[in-house]
This record gives sequence, C-alpha cells and structure tokens, in this order.
Amino acid sequence: MMNKPKIGIIISTTRDTRNGSQIANWVHAIASKRTDMEFELLDLRDFPMPFFNELASNAYVPSKDPTAQQWQKKIGSLDGYIFVTAEYNNSIPAVLKNALDYAYVEWGRKPAAYVGYGSVGGARAIQHLKDICVELQMAPVRQAVHLQGADFYALMQGQKKVEEFEYLNPLAEQLLEQLAWWAKALKQARV
Ligand SMILES: Cc1cc2nc3c(=O)[nH]c(=O)nc-3n(C[C@H](O)[C@H](O)[C@H](O)COP(=O)(O)O)c2cc1C
Repeated sequence: MMNKPKIGIIISTTRDTRNGSQIANWVHAIASKRTDMEFELLDLRDFPMPFFNELASNAYVPSKDPTAQQWQKKIGSLDGYIFVTAEYNNSIPAVLKNALDYAYVEWGRKPAAYVGYGSVGGARAIQHLKDICVELQMAPVRQAVHLQGADFYALMQGQKKVEEFEYLNPLAEQLLEQLAWWAKALKQARV
C-alpha cells in the first residue's frame, strides 16, 4: 500500500511581526484532522538562504550553498505543498520567490495549493504564484482560501483571530480534498 502523501505547509514571509505564522498554524490544525495525508509546517525563517547566487538553477548545476541544499532536500522529501502567502506589491514576497528559485527538480510533478491573505485575500499574489508553479512543473489546485477585506484588517490589527472566521473552514476543507486527489495520483505516478 502507498505511504501517505507528505504535505509541507509553507510560511512564505519572514519579517519579525508577520501575520503569516498565525494563518499557517490555522491551516495546519485543519489539515491535521485528515488521516490520509501527513502535514508539516515549513518556515522560511529556518532556511535563511542568500539571494540566489549559484551558477544556474539546480535543474542544471547542483547548488553550493549549504542552506539551499537543506532546503532542496526538505522540498524533495515532500509530496505536495500548501503555500500560505501574503501579497507584497501585488505579488508574492521576495523571500518566497527566492526559495522557489532555489529548487527545481524537487518541486516537479507535485501539487500545490494556496492560502492567501491581504486586502484582496492575496488573490494577485496567488495568480502569480500559480504561474511560477507551472514553470516549476507543479500541479496547482483550483480551490484557494482567501482571507481578505475587513476580516484581514481585523486580524492584522489583532482584533480577531483567524479561527473566528468560520466561513473559511469549508473552503480549507475543499482545498485539502482537491490537494489529496492530486497528491495521491501524482505520488503513484512518480513511482
Ligand atoms: C512591502 C509590502 C507590500 C505590501 N503590498 C500589499 C499588496 O500589494 N496587497 C495587499 O493586500 N497587502 C499588501 N501589503 C500588506 C500585507 O498584506 C500585510 O502587511 C500582511 O500582514 C503581510 O504578511 P506578513 O504579515 O506575513 O508579512 C504589503 C505589505 C508590505 C510589507
């Protein structure tokens, strides 16, 4: 029997006062109710890679930076990803783009799902991110979760916690359902 797919929940911002970890913890709590996949939080703070300074993408030349090698190993050990992303100037945070660029083969033929937060729920960042994921030969799932508008501002100002927005729960569950199908199918296909 196939082992359970392992999914990394990626916290895509690193600034000291970030909101990303609260939202990623919420995703992790909902995801962990499932018994058909395993989940772990991946914090980009734990992989402080320099701005990309290798001879080429690791699609062509192995990376020299030791932290990048650790990152590639971790990404390679997983069967799918949930990106919990903010929107910085209508796109993804630079630290996330750098981390995406620091691997290639490890991302390929695996599904990616998206949880965004911001004034429009990170929608613009997620659209950019889906495009990047396709270039990395990943399979983006349709259902995303968007924490937006007044609810996002209430969270940002510390007036509300993400758990209070119960309408997000079924969206997260739908995201996980779609991710599960792709994670299982692609894990089988990669054998
Ligand atoms: C450099 C920068 C650019 C931002 N640009 C956007 C933006 O384009 N759209 C948006 O909705 N929020 C934007 N914001 C506000 C973020 O949504 C908000 O600060 C959010 O908490 C950032 O995620 P983090 O707390 O995990 O770092 C921006 C914030 C920063 C620091």
